[in-house]
Amino acid sequence: MCKKVINIKNKIKKFDKKIYVDGDKSISIRWALFSSQAIGKSVAHNFPKSEDVINTLKCLQKLGIKIKFINKNCEIIGRGINGFNYKKNIVLNAGNSGTLGRLILSLLIKSPYKIKITGDKSLSKRDFSRVINPLKRIGANFYPKNKEKLPIFIKGSELLRPINYFEERGSAQCKSCVMLASLNTPGEIVIKAKKSRNHTENIFNFLKIPIKIRKNKKFDFIRVKKPQLIQSFNVKIPGDISSSAFFIVLTLLSKNSKIIIKNVNVNSTRIGVIKILNKMGAKIKLKNIKYKYGEKCADIFVKSRQNLKSINCPTNLNSSAIDEFLILFLCAAKAKGVSYFKDISELNQKESPRLKIGSQILKMMGIKVKVNDNSIKIYGNPNLDLKKKYVVKNNLQDHRVLMMSVIAALSFGGDWRIFNPSSVNTSFPSFFKLIRYLGGNLN
Ligand code: S3P
Repeated sequence: MCKKVINIKNKIKKFDKKIYVDGDKSISIRWALFSSQAIGKSVAHNFPKSEDVINTLKCLQKLGIKIKFINKNCEIIGRGINGFNYKKNIVLNAGNSGTLGRLILSLLIKSPYKIKITGDKSLSKRDFSRVINPLKRIGANFYPKNKEKLPIFIKGSELLRPINYFEERGSAQCKSCVMLASLNTPGEIVIKAKKSRNHTENIFNFLKIPIKIRKNKKFDFIRVKKPQLIQSFNVKIPGDISSSAFFIVLTLLSKNSKIIIKNVNVNSTRIGVIKILNKMGAKIKLKNIKYKYGEKCADIFVKSRQNLKSINCPTNLNSSAIDEFLILFLCAAKAKGVSYFKDISELNQKESPRLKIGSQILKMMGIKVKVNDNSIKIYGNPNLDLKKKYVVKNNLQDHRVLMMSVIAALSFGGDWRIFNPSSVNTSFPSFFKLIRYLGGNLN
């Protein structure tokens, strides 16, 4: 979709469909980064062509990695740990992706040359000190000194040392960044991490890279060591739960509708959205559960629900729903009672300040909210039925702001103009095709 704006004037009619969503972004980026460090050919089936993932491949190609697409399969010829082959003065553009921009730094901590890392307007506003600081302690160098945002330069070192690291945000990007640094660092890196998605740990285990994990209720204690080598590995990328969430909520909020979303990654560290919605009365079911390459996958079954309840959202679910709050806010807007989401300041550190922008969209819809930098109270209206004109500018081109707005328009009615629709390509290129397949009217 290359239009500047889409118009939506009608709610979606009832639907009963089975869909597949694009492959999981977190897993795809990680697979590509690890494959580049493996020896020989790795293949990922059902590889998504979302922009964040494609930018990962482009960065790896600049680092001398050979990559081929054969239909929906991606082949990477790894050159072994720190086997990159590149000239001086290369620039790696991470585009919109915090995961790529942050994680790739860990693979460059031995780089003999300065490498420039850039990103788009949104990524250039985001904090990188959260990964620069631990990587500096390990021995990497960053320029200009004390700069905390992109563009930055990284130069590696031959004198790397292991660290003890406390990850206190519940950020999988920070945790993964330090874990990945162990591929090049002698000794043992020790991490105490607040709970967050564990795809990196799963890949370490799957590839038999030395890792020990001990868990208590709040923290994971992780010890990682440099492997001798990494074997190449093949995977089939499952559907992305973060993309599925938009269709789960569309189904819940529409009348007399049903959906089955096939083969989605339902790793327990990712399904906060399902747990939260089920606490609100959604009755979402997971069936045909399978374990593939260390990750849990299932089909997701959802039916319309007219009587969602409000929620005082337990903070221990925050990290596992971190990318889904915007879409959850729409359910809270239609639920009976006041919903409360707290300790979510990290939302304002995403592709756009999502807590701020999400609350502005709710207010525009006539929903009462009380919001500050860390929490939001949403006063639900079970009779929500929109009739006015609504405009979403989406200046930072945040893919999830865009998709939230589309789902609001199709669920609640009104006359919507939503700008920058091509931002969906960041994570979910088939979003609009699927909306049309369900019967959604977009112009
Ligand atoms: C991601 C982790 C999350 C998430 C992002 C992807 C990952 O960020 O918001 O979309 O793949 O590790 P944080 O870990 O910084 O919260």
